[in-house]
Amino acid sequence: MDQIVSEMEFKRACVIGSPIAHSRSPLIHNYWLKHHGIAGTYDKIEVKPAELEAFFASLAERGLAGCNVTVPHKEEALRLAKHRTARADEFGAANTIWFENGELCADNTDSHGYEMSLDQDAPGWDNAERALVFGAGGASRAIIAALLRRGVEHVDLINRSVERAEELARLFGRRVSASGFDRAPLLMKDADLLVNTTALGMLGKEPLDVSLDTLKDSALVSDIVYVPLETGLIKQAKARGHRVAGGLGMLLHQAVPGFAAWFGTTPEVTPALRAIVEDDVRKAGG
Ligand SMILES: NC(=O)c1ccc[n+]([C@@H]2O[C@H](COP(=O)([O-])OP(=O)(O)OC[C@H]3O[C@@H](n4cnc5c(N)ncnc54)[C@H](OP(=O)(O)O)[C@@H]3O)[C@@H](O)[C@H]2O)c1
Repeated sequence: MDQIVSEMEFKRACVIGSPIAHSRSPLIHNYWLKHHGIAGTYDKIEVKPAELEAFFASLAERGLAGCNVTVPHKEEALRLAKHRTARADEFGAANTIWFENGELCADNTDSHGYEMSLDQDAPGWDNAERALVFGAGGASRAIIAALLRRGVEHVDLINRSVERAEELARLFGRRVSASGFDRAPLLMKDADLLVNTTALGMLGKEPLDVSLDTLKDSALVSDIVYVPLETGLIKQAKARGHRVAGGLGMLLHQAVPGFAAWFGTTPEVTPALRAIVEDDVRKAGG
């Protein structure tokens, strides 16, 4: 007998941004919908900055349970939400929006996604005492928060514009110190964990021009860039025998809380899902 799904049971969510064509979120969420036999869809919708407020006002009318929010809407989405999680407020940006009692709620799941990805891909990573983080943008803020929360005692933060690193370090207090790339060779000697959060090494961008020659042998190397799947930094680290973790895990794990909020089931990041997204990244030249 054909299964008839009423409009009430059919659930919808989406990702919004501008541009949005590159987003892999539909691949992830539609995989989970199918895997769990949930009647629903997850689409990508181009929304320009001037259209954001009207788009949020039309969510219910469009039958959307919520959405992911990406560049350039992350800060404005937080401002427009009626309720925000503490971590979204802490990062000053939202990536996940849903309705609760008809009111718009906002969360930021990047920090959680990073933590969960290292738990899965590099168990024991949180024994690190000292971390060296490259980059002081939005992603860096979420990652430093995850490192400190999980017990990393000190973070050395390096950025091209040192003032931006200093500004971010000030938000976290004495456990984070800022410097420029000239100090990288020295700081690598004491790092148990090295993380790249800059956009460098991404397909179409300049490579991250840093030598790992002075990095502690036991250090774990993590790169949140996931196109290509194996960045120049990860290749260099592997060649030196370091344990490594690529950026795809963070993308997959940050998606979990949104799916749970919209579709009522907490999904898992499985090797099968990972293989599908990896295949898509490779097709895009990564
Ligand atoms: N795996 C995931 O789920 C995930 C999630 C979020 C982000 N990401 C990736 O993380 C990267 C950063 O994202 P974001 O949101 O933090 O971006 P952002 O806020 O724009 O920050 C960009 C960072 O990259 C640095 N940078 C850019 N071009 C550079 C150059 N030519 N030389 C030196 N440094 C340069 C910037 O340094 P300045 O401050 O000096 O400009 C800044 O530290 C992107 O590649 C993004 O795709 C991955």
